[in-house]
Amino acid sequence: MAGTGETGGFAERAVARVGELFPVPDGLGLPEATALYSDGSTAQGLTEHAEIRPGDWVLVEAAAGGVGSLLVQLARVAGARVIGAARGSRKLNLVRKLGADVVVDYSAPGWTTLVREATGGVGPDVVFDGVGGEIGRAAFEVTARGGRFSVHGASSGEATLVDPVEAHLRGVTVIGLEQLFGFGPHVVRWAQRMMSHAAAGLVRPIIGQTFPLEHAADAHAAVENRTALGKTLLLI
Ligand SMILES: NC(=O)c1ccc[n+]([C@@H]2O[C@H](COP(=O)([O-])OP(=O)(O)OC[C@H]3O[C@@H](n4cnc5c(N)ncnc54)[C@H](OP(=O)(O)O)[C@@H]3O)[C@@H](O)[C@H]2O)c1
Repeated sequence: MAGTGETGGFAERAVARVGELFPVPDGLGLPEATALYSDGSTAQGLTEHAEIRPGDWVLVEAAAGGVGSLLVQLARVAGARVIGAARGSRKLNLVRKLGADVVVDYSAPGWTTLVREATGGVGPDVVFDGVGGEIGRAAFEVTARGGRFSVHGASSGEATLVDPVEAHLRGVTVIGLEQLFGFGPHVVRWAQRMMSHAAAGLVRPIIGQTFPLEHAADAHAAVENRTALGKTLLLI
């Protein structure tokens, strides 16, 4: 495997630097390794930055998505109790199977009340916010005092904005979107660690749907209309 640069694109062949190639571990398929390369290293980096401790309550937004489905599993590996939040029963069923202790549908009003109740009224110690917008804002408001609010995306179209003074008064550490800028030099190491975890059966990449290259537009549509589970792959 090797990364091909940061701009992306689809092709049957690509040029890679020899020094950046690494072998897929025995016991792991190439599709599974592909599903883990980017999402897995991102999830690994986010988990390290959030410093999850055994027994923590961790809330994962978009928990049935590519990054979210891996965050749920990594948080469990770290000994945390996990609340997986997503939209609709099909996704929540997957999140439950991934090991979440509690699942919550954030398309239903009052969903953060369920999060608060699940954590004994305290709120989650760690929140992984990949959605932003109203969902991200509501998740920030329910984060426990002394907790970490980790931002990695804005799938809703709007990143969660948190006033630093408000975060300070609430005793919440915000690990902002800018954390991603420091991930680059670690991507290969983190991806390899995730692949080792997967080869050892500790985590399972979820490849929810695959499409032939000539149907790449359908793959994009599945991601955009929120029907995709886990990772979407093009097969060549
Ligand atoms: N993949 C990476 O390595 C990486 C790296 C850095 C940052 N990120 C960021 O992390 C976030 C998650 O990435 P991902 O690759 O895991 O994406 P993904 O698999 O496509 O998951 C995104 C999820 O966001 C949720 N969502 C909520 N509101 C949405 C909306 N208005 N439109 C579309 N989806 C919406 C959907 O789940 P529900 O239907 O359950 O709400 C969807 O499954 C993205 O914001 C991405 O930019 C990803």
